[in-house]
Amino acid sequence: MTETIHPSGLTAEKIAELRAIAEKAAEQSYSPYSKFRVGAAVLLDDGQIFAGPNVENASYRLTICAENTAIAKAVSEVGPGIRLRAVAVANLNGANSMPCGACRQILYEFGGVDTWVFGPGEDGPVDIKLGELLPHGFRLERE
Ligand code: THU
Repeated sequence: MTETIHPSGLTAEKIAELRAIAEKAAEQSYSPYSKFRVGAAVLLDDGQIFAGPNVENASYRLTICAENTAIAKAVSEVGPGIRLRAVAVANLNGANSMPCGACRQILYEFGGVDTWVFGPGEDGPVDIKLGELLPHGFRLERE
C-alpha cells in the first residue's frame, strides 16, 4: 500500500495519530466553568509527542489553554531547545476550536511559519501552516 504523504511530509497515519492523542488529552481537561474540553498534542522535530488539556481557574483569565499545557510539558521533559513540527488540537464538544490568538503566539515561539496545525475548523478538519494563522508572529533575538 502506498502511504499518503501530506504537504507537511507527515503520513496520514501520523496526522491521525496526533489528532487521536489530542483527543485523548482532552479527556483530562479541567474545565468546570466552560465545560469546553480541549486537548492538544505537539509533535517535535525529533518525533516525540507531548499532549495536554486546558486547565481552567475560578479566576477565569488564569486559565491555561491545552496548547500551552502541551508546550510546557514538552519543554519540561525535553528542554528549552524543542522545535515544533506540528500540533493537533481537539475538543470533546463537537465544536470547532482552532488555536486562539494567544496560543498561536505560544506555538510560534517554538515553531515557525512552517509548523503545521491540525484542528477542527468551522467546516470540519483543518490543516494549515502556522504562518497562515499568525502572519508576522512576534520574535525576539534568542541565544
Ligand atoms: N481553549 C483552549 O484550550 N485552547 C484554545 O486555543 C482556545 C480555548 C480553552 C480555554 C478554556 O478553558 C476553554 O477552551 C473555553 O475558552
